[in-house]
Amino acid sequence: MPQEPMYYGTYLGLDKILDSQHPVSFQNNNQPAHDEMLFIIIHQAYELWFKQILFELDYVLNVFSKEKINDNSEDINLVRHRLHRIIKILELLNQQVSVLDTMTPLDFLAFRNLLTPSSGFQSKQFRLIEAKLGLQLEQRHQSAYYKKNNEGGFTQTDYHTINEAESTKNLQQLINNWLERMPFFDAEFWSNHSTNHFTEHTFWFTYRNIYQDGLTEREATKIIDFDYVLFEQKPDDLSEEQLQYLRSNFSPKALRAALFIMLYRDFPVFQTSYQIVDALIEIDHLLSNWRHKHLIMVRRMIGMRVGTGNTSGAGYLEGALSKHYVYRDLSALSTYLIERSKLPKLPESLIKHLGFV
Ligand code: HEM
Repeated sequence: MPQEPMYYGTYLGLDKILDSQHPVSFQNNNQPAHDEMLFIIIHQAYELWFKQILFELDYVLNVFSKEKINDNSEDINLVRHRLHRIIKILELLNQQVSVLDTMTPLDFLAFRNLLTPSSGFQSKQFRLIEAKLGLQLEQRHQSAYYKKNNEGGFTQTDYHTINEAESTKNLQQLINNWLERMPFFDAEFWSNHSTNHFTEHTFWFTYRNIYQDGLTEREATKIIDFDYVLFEQKPDDLSEEQLQYLRSNFSPKALRAALFIMLYRDFPVFQTSYQIVDALIEIDHLLSNWRHKHLIMVRRMIGMRVGTGNTSGAGYLEGALSKHYVYRDLSALSTYLIERSKLPKLPESLIKHLGFV
């Protein structure tokens, strides 16, 4: 049998997609609300892009789950490329908020009650993106909200899927392991350097001195942060509150490797690793930008009313915005940078060997 020629609408499943917009206000004896169509389509467009983000994330997770990663392989270059694609999608998702902004609060009120108790809070795909990037249940703002499976919560099946993603190794943990495995300080590359009990390697001992010399009087105590964050060393009088503030999801060894990559990024061998670290920071920022834009839009749309999903509304969203970062510890490494001109010179043998992990 000759095959039917491919047809645009069939290939894209358009019959199904374009028959999936059913404004509730147009049904039964409700008063049709013109803007409900926009409300549905914009959510669907978000969910389609979430699907693409998850597709890219799964590829990235798969590469970093491998026992050994060759930093010179096409895998790692594709990781860089696909993280960059996620960035571009998130930029688009941020812009998309302005389309929804063309709906006024009164337009929304015309159909809002018909949605209750459904809410974007229940977006399984959004939760999977967060979980796969590394956000854990206990780090979530008002984590009790996530466990409820009554009105406004998740269905049992969605709850189970999200839980499963949370208990699988996430990208933050895998990146931590990848950074820890970086061979920057293998003895063979540093013939003239010895180990040092405080900073483990004399490179860091030298670096610490340069860093401390560069601190202004007001910043002098940053050396305490430096010692704790990068070497787990602390004076006895450091309070639990200060420790809490400095504690990181990344190990000190991984953070040292990330800092090293940031410092020596101008060497071609560090470029891909640097771009990966930087992309993760950017993804975190763009998600945070989206949370902020969404929050401002919600405040304008419903003021201080509770959300249809039964959270406190803008209050909950504000908490999530300030807490739901995953890669804040990587961006915070800027605290410990020194000027390019003061960077210690790297041994030739290290430069030559890097890139062949
Ligand atoms: C009129 C427009 C919108 C309003 C008034 C609104 C309102 C809210 C509120 C109040 C919450 C908190 C949970 C609750 O109690 O319901 C929430 C959460 C959420 N909404 Fe929206 N939303 C709107 C549009 C959107 C759109 C277009 C998306 C796109 C997918 C979206 C996705 C989300 C997500 C993912 C959350 C969870 C956020 C988090 O936990 O950080 N919302 N929304």
